Amino acid sequence: MSEKTRVVITGATSGLGKEMAVQLARRGWRIALTGRREDKLKEVAKAVQDAGGEALILVGSVTEPAAVKAHYATIRETWGGVDWAILNAGIGDSEHGRRFNAEAVRRTFDTNVFGAAYWIEAVIPDMLRAKRGVIAGIASLAAYRGLPQSGSYSASKAALVTLLESTRIDLRGTGVDVVTVCPGFVKSELTARNNEKDMWFLLETDDGVRRLLAGIDRRKREVHFPWQLSLLMKYVIHNLPGCIYEPLAKRLIKRDKRPAAPAPTRA
Ligand SMILES: NC(=O)c1ccc[n+]([C@@H]2O[C@H](COP(=O)([O-])OP(=O)(O)OC[C@H]3O[C@@H](n4cnc5c(N)ncnc54)[C@H](OP(=O)(O)O)[C@@H]3O)[C@@H](O)[C@H]2O)c1
Repeated sequence: MSEKTRVVITGATSGLGKEMAVQLARRGWRIALTGRREDKLKEVAKAVQDAGGEALILVGSVTEPAAVKAHYATIRETWGGVDWAILNAGIGDSEHGRRFNAEAVRRTFDTNVFGAAYWIEAVIPDMLRAKRGVIAGIASLAAYRGLPQSGSYSASKAALVTLLESTRIDLRGTGVDVVTVCPGFVKSELTARNNEKDMWFLLETDDGVRRLLAGIDRRKREVHFPWQLSLLMKYVIHNLPGCIYEPLAKRLIKRDKRPAAPAPTRA
């Protein structure tokens, strides 16, 4: 793609989204940044410009279809559309099955699943017309099993993985590639709440993002890293029978026994 490749990154105010913006800006790309915190978006836009890219700030929530439509309309007016859509905005609220909260599930799905779906709907028609484009959804290795105290997060990422897979099949042969990204633990605002020793193979943000972008560059169907945690989650734990996985998972997350559990470890 040309040096003026146009990208939208949802959730670009911190963590992976912010670092992706900076790394892609070094390629001289045009980057539309979305998020709810305008002050942070301005900081990231400055970092993008300093790194040699062009930035477009789009303030708002991915959970509002009207905001997503308006954001894409602005990108279209400014740059004519996007070549890459990186659907990265995500949340992971603390929760415990003993205090099951359907509202927390809805909130998490609104951002992690519907937030991606609204953007997919927005970008697909132009990408199909152009016969090229990349849609990359940032899921998680947490998608491969229902992790304790992370029901809505694991379920939302599993839903996203499945949604992206179906979409990838439907778009085969159109020139539009769909990439599913499943990171392990990477330093960010989301993981800063976790206990570091519980985050196996924790990666620095720039390292995680380099791996992530390398996978998208290669148009891999699925990008998962680091390999140690991928092997464990995708190939071992994912295939364990429930009678082994469930008691093991409960034992590993010892905080499960406390009545008011603190934030769980999630990736
Ligand atoms: N870090 C990891 O270890 C890890 C591992 C696997 C997967 N992931 C996934 O990677 C993605 C990025 O997470 P992160 O680790 O970089 O966490 P982070 O630093 O907390 O970043 C999350 C980003 O999502 C944005 N966001 C949240 N809700 C939004 C909404 N309703 N509308 C628009 N933007 C919203 C936030 O921006 P505002 O608050 O400004 O809106 C922020 O920019 C998430 O999808 C996460 O699930 C992370």
